[in-house]
Amino acid sequence: MPDPEGAAPNSGVDVSEAQIAVHWKEEEHLPPPAKFVSQANVADGSIRSRFTLDRFPDCFREYAELLSWERRWHTTLDTERAPFYRWFVGGRLNASFNCLDRHLPHHAAKPAFLWVPEPEAEPVLAVTYRELYERVNEFAALLRDRAGVRAGDRVTVHLPMVPELPVTMLACARLGAIHSVVFGGFSGEACGVRIADSGSRVLVTIDGYYRGGKLLDHKANADLAVAAAAREGQRVDHVLVWRRRPEERSTSAPWVEGRDLDVVTELPRFRGAEVPPVPMESEAPLFLMYTSGTTGRPKGCQHGTGGYLAYAVGTSRIYQDLHPEDVYWCLADIGWITGHTYIVYGPLALATTSVLYEGLPTFPDPARIWRIAERLGVTILHTSPTTIRLLRKADPEGPRRFDLRFKHLTTVGEPIEPDVWRWYFEVVGGGRAAVVDTWWQTETGGVLCSTIPGVDPMKPGSAGPGALGVHPVILDDHGAEVPPGTGRAGNLCIRNPWPGIFQTIWGDPERFVATYFRRFNRDPTSRDWQDWPYFAGDGATESSDGYFRILGRVDDVINVAGHRLGTKEIESACLTVREVAEAAVVPVHDELRGRRPEIYISLKPGASDPGQVASAVARAVEEQIGKIARPSAVRVVADMPKTRSGKIMRRVLGAISNSLDVGDITTLANPEAVAAIQALVRPAGSSPPRPSRTDGDAADPGDR
Ligand code: WT7
Repeated sequence: MPDPEGAAPNSGVDVSEAQIAVHWKEEEHLPPPAKFVSQANVADGSIRSRFTLDRFPDCFREYAELLSWERRWHTTLDTERAPFYRWFVGGRLNASFNCLDRHLPHHAAKPAFLWVPEPEAEPVLAVTYRELYERVNEFAALLRDRAGVRAGDRVTVHLPMVPELPVTMLACARLGAIHSVVFGGFSGEACGVRIADSGSRVLVTIDGYYRGGKLLDHKANADLAVAAAAREGQRVDHVLVWRRRPEERSTSAPWVEGRDLDVVTELPRFRGAEVPPVPMESEAPLFLMYTSGTTGRPKGCQHGTGGYLAYAVGTSRIYQDLHPEDVYWCLADIGWITGHTYIVYGPLALATTSVLYEGLPTFPDPARIWRIAERLGVTILHTSPTTIRLLRKADPEGPRRFDLRFKHLTTVGEPIEPDVWRWYFEVVGGGRAAVVDTWWQTETGGVLCSTIPGVDPMKPGSAGPGALGVHPVILDDHGAEVPPGTGRAGNLCIRNPWPGIFQTIWGDPERFVATYFRRFNRDPTSRDWQDWPYFAGDGATESSDGYFRILGRVDDVINVAGHRLGTKEIESACLTVREVAEAAVVPVHDELRGRRPEIYISLKPGASDPGQVASAVARAVEEQIGKIARPSAVRVVADMPKTRSGKIMRRVLGAISNSLDVGDITTLANPEAVAAIQALVRPAGSSPPRPSRTDGDAADPGDR
């Protein structure tokens, strides 16, 4: 059966972010700051000559050498079952060993994490490598003995930004179990769907956590998740509940005897336990990370142990420029891929000290980030354009009032506007820090396009050239290469595999091939990687300097504050409201978050008050996905614009929502519907449109 995602990128998709992307002018190059260069891990451009295409795949041994292997690999890359690649075949290693045990001789007393609770009165907690090692061992023993977790089992983890999250991940990795971390801000319902898809019998959660000044009851989500999983036929036997405040339970959710286990009261039995790290084949899955695609069902991206970890550690060293003496702060949530690679696995494998922050970046005021950075002496900051826009808007001079010592600044997740980039460089970095804009995806495990901070000139608004050993190319819709410097946009693809590439979609290898490889494949029987370009799903241009500028998704995915949401997922949430007949979701530009979903619905005959239905739809989206999917507006229309074959023209709705020209609508079955919707969205005399917002919380980057 053909997968809808394997088809031409715009089939079934009438609006794409690329089509409505802002087109920035070509910017000047800026040299990396001299002081940064003098200390950089890589300051010599000749490194590129070691990673040219003719050195592929052996060039990546350099990354694998940064790890400790229980048994060395014999084959760097096996392409026998392309595009299912196997990296460092024959090698055996354990990820938890690489992040913990091997650091004990030299770094035992060094903090792995500096955990900053959201309430400012609570002290910062330093967790040393020795303490992290002990906590991981104890929790691994508990997982093994109280929940029966074994190598290969899936464990779903629904935790916020507390040290217990990396502890849980590393405990799973120690046992060879596959963790599936679900972003803490996702709803119980969304968590349940992921539990069912992964076949997890065990859920790890926490009673509560602080966010925006409130102690949220998180355990309640676990009960919803277990119920949702049960509806899909997956039973959860054990719910392991950490405590936010050790002295008491922070939840009013009922306790289910026999299923729920209070971790804090159980752990003392495992005091001092040592669990030997299970040596895993390089190809053994390390974790699943669910992400949104074109269809309603989230995809479980499966990452392997050896290839992923090698890529995480190699790119952390080169692109984050991590040194043992740095204090590094990545503001992403560990529940997204950025946190997995660039808070947990990469930095810990390099024995870095990282800041972990529980709460909202602007709580209790917009200077919170700068206070933390000053107090903890943060040298490297890593965040998203949405957070940068938010901080700039809240207090454009804020950073100047603090003694900030950043030498390196990273951005990730969305295109960064050149003027936002400049604020980051000049005001946050004082012009002294190197800025890297890193383009990559959940599927890719690590950075694919970025400048090397100590080598390459920076160019505001451009992600930069392909990462070392990664060879991007722009292909047009017919598969022809779009040469650099033409200014023409096309589909961003990668010619070759790299160690961080995901192995498959959990339980759906067909969809893996169909979504990412079929479109530009030259020969479906080929075992040669050259015939299987990876199709990223982004539109981009390549300048004559070889730098890539990312324009946005070419599929049904909306990037909100640097996170991916599937329009189909949101639409199916809308359709759970009984009165809704049809739903269409389009991305609209948002000053802070980049894009937000806007919803159009039509009602069934005899439906009650449209205002009430609209509120019910907004609520349903929050309950089934999470607050991050909150629509900017829900618009009730009498008639959706449709093609003669009855397909909703999302392109037209997207144009209306973004105050753009709707283009040719003469081929529609009902062109008159367009004027009616325009009148609704843009009442005469008001321009640009003022959508009726469903929330007014401009201080929240939208990730909870
Ligand atoms: C999508 C992947 C990679 C971690 C965070 C997001 C967009 C990502 C950039 C960037 C422009 C970017 C792309 C991509 N994206 N980084 N530097 N510039 N766009 O991971 O949730 O898998 O989303 O985010 O559209 O396809 P993700």
